[in-house]
Amino acid sequence: MKKCILAIETSCDETSAAVLVDDRTLLSNIVSSQINVHSHYGGVMPEIASRLHAEQITLVLERALRESNLDYSKLSAVAVTAGPGLIGALHVGLQAAKAIAIAYQIPLIAVHHIAGHIYANHFLGAMEYPALAVVVSGGHTELVYMPHELEFQIVGRTQDDAIGEAYDKVARVLGLPYPGGPEIDRLAHQGVPSYVLPSPKTDHPLNVSYSGLKTAVVNLVHNAEQRGESLRVADVCASFQKRAVDMIVDRLLKALERYPVQQIVVAGGVAANSYLRESLPRRVREVAPHIEVAIPPFWCCTDNAAMIAVLASRMYDLGHFAPLDQGADPDWSIEDFLPQPKE
Ligand code: KG4
Ligand code: ZN
Repeated sequence: MKKCILAIETSCDETSAAVLVDDRTLLSNIVSSQINVHSHYGGVMPEIASRLHAEQITLVLERALRESNLDYSKLSAVAVTAGPGLIGALHVGLQAAKAIAIAYQIPLIAVHHIAGHIYANHFLGAMEYPALAVVVSGGHTELVYMPHELEFQIVGRTQDDAIGEAYDKVARVLGLPYPGGPEIDRLAHQGVPSYVLPSPKTDHPLNVSYSGLKTAVVNLVHNAEQRGESLRVADVCASFQKRAVDMIVDRLLKALERYPVQQIVVAGGVAANSYLRESLPRRVREVAPHIEVAIPPFWCCTDNAAMIAVLASRMYDLGHFAPLDQGADPDWSIEDFLPQPKE
């Protein structure tokens, strides 16, 4: 009997379910996005997100099982994102997963959303350790050192906004639709980085800060409005994108001096960014050509249950199961995800 994992992801604005057999054979990965609804509000409305998850979850599960040509009785375990994320949204997935675990008498696996983003790279092949994960998502921006599999140490982080959040806020002030990342990325190709934007100082050499950069763009827009001048929007996008991405890549290169690693893995929605995908591997190659760089394929950069399933599959092998009173933790730190070895 093959190992067969059903995974559920509902931490933000995508309702997703996936079925994975063995370590990386994906039989289905259904993603029902709420973006069209939230875009009317310019960002994710948590209460609306919970309600839409509650409406969609059973349909998404049904489709995931149907596409995989399996029924619930064939499952070895059910995995679910238990945090971080929106509390109400997380609970919808968690309750569905618990109901399946009870009904089919299979283990429950509680997965950390950001660790899932990191393990999306498993679809490219096994990861090599020690590794350094560059987490660039809508809610998180972190450099995570992984001495061994499933060990996570945050060695650098944003002091304020996440990079994806900064993209979304800058897009909003420029009058671009939500989510702003893909739109800024697209426009940046039509412009040149001709606006001078700040590169904020941070408390720690491996930290980043996006709030100052975001405010600088907001001020640029407001000043232009007051003077009745029009901005070259594509150039603003190119300037912001260059600063935002260069900042995290600069910190990554600095981190490599302290943490000699075998592999760098990129993780999170901003891993879909074209400039990051081109510049990060190039700059790493210039200073450390021996280090492997992995970037997840486009289809698993933003939220999906396949990445939760691929990590859960490793957790299943190692016996990392959750109790049926498992809670959702909106602020779960990746360092508290699994028991970490003592120093
Ligand atoms: O990882 P994710 O789905 O959300 C969290 O787990 O937080 O990432 C969503 C973020 C959004 O902020 C979105 O604007 C950004 O990823 N994003 C991008 C691109 N595609 C998505 N940012 C920059 N360039 C892109 N091409
Ligand atoms: Zn995410």
